[in-house]
Amino acid sequence: MNHKAQITHLQVELGERSYPIEIGQNILGDSNLLARHVAGKRVAIITNTVVAPLYLEALKTSLEAAGKQVIPIILPDGEQEKNWESLMKVFDVLLAEKCDRQTTLVALGGGVIGDLTGYAAASYMRGVPFIQVPTTLLAQVDSSVGGKTGINHPLGKNMIGAFYQPQCVIADTAALNTLPQQELAAGLAEVIKHGAITSGDFFTWIETNMEKLVAKDPAALAYAIQRSCEIKAEVVRQDEREGGLRAILNFGHTFGHAIEAGLGYGEWLHGEAVGCGMVMAADLSCRMGFMDEASSDRIRKLVKAAGLPVVAPDLGVQRWIELMQVDKKATDGEIQFILLKPLGFPVITTVPQVMLEATLAACVKRDG
Ligand code: NAD
Ligand code: GLY
Repeated sequence: MNHKAQITHLQVELGERSYPIEIGQNILGDSNLLARHVAGKRVAIITNTVVAPLYLEALKTSLEAAGKQVIPIILPDGEQEKNWESLMKVFDVLLAEKCDRQTTLVALGGGVIGDLTGYAAASYMRGVPFIQVPTTLLAQVDSSVGGKTGINHPLGKNMIGAFYQPQCVIADTAALNTLPQQELAAGLAEVIKHGAITSGDFFTWIETNMEKLVAKDPAALAYAIQRSCEIKAEVVRQDEREGGLRAILNFGHTFGHAIEAGLGYGEWLHGEAVGCGMVMAADLSCRMGFMDEASSDRIRKLVKAAGLPVVAPDLGVQRWIELMQVDKKATDGEIQFILLKPLGFPVITTVPQVMLEATLAACVKRDG
């Protein structure tokens, strides 16, 4: 273990709830880095059956080396497990082990574990500290930062949850070595999202470096993670509880959430649904006259180059609309879309139904 690994330090500035993001290769085993953020003696590591055999031992050893007592909680894997039953399993162990308010919860895994652990931490004894140790690209570039926590309800994605910030985020980029290619692509969707909603040259950088990112080039991935965290941290600093601006981080998600719920959670990966959702949002932006077709085409090409789907499933127009009305951004049943006006400049808006139907007709896969 190289304890002198180069670490990039970022900060999410939220007054008394500010916290650092540490990004580096092989930093999971750095007991000082971890233990510094654990106030009490006990730590519950929440992870799953896929991640535990890969990284639990290293994390546990490094916390124990710092004098902490570790309680591992291993949940089943998968988006369909981001539910009430899994949350109860966490509470069952915490209570059986007599964990008190000084116990720190550590989320070791992807966005599913991170969101669920964060919500468990927000609710257990009305709030205990937690640390994000994201191990997927999606979690390192997006879900571990910003304090959105929660679980799914059968009627809607992420519908039960809380804003609850971690003590810190520790992103070990070496964990990406074991990540399946499809999961890497899912994370790249959120990287593309950050490029598309930000003016400046990040979108162009992603276009230039997509081959390297897909090939897991460590330097390219490290830069993509750093820029994504910087962009997200700045949006969250300005609008922690999504009073307005933060909704731009949902570019592609209104369509994406409908795909996830419409097909059943876990059928498409969240990042795949977001990738396709961005292609649809770009199409709609063009139809609204906000963006030129060349820019929409750049988004579609980039999503495709990341290895993500660009053709949406045929859920039926009515079902599509119903599903999008459940979106948290919807107000009085009116669907709010994040569109680009133009590329790099997101706007939050409603659209005429005829435009939406035209986008659905253009982007949806029809059988036969
Ligand atoms: P995930 O947590 O299901 O992880 C994907 C798969 O990779 C799982 O099978 C997992 O066990 C496995 N895995 C994790 N790390 C690994 C590693 N290093 N090597 C090998 N396999 C590994 O999915 P995800 O894409 O990380 O996250 C998706 C979730 O994040 C969704 O539930 C989504 O709603 C949520 N999300 C939340 C936010 C937020 O702001 N809170 C933002 C974006 C997404
Ligand atoms: N992923 C959207 C947000 O964190 O606000």
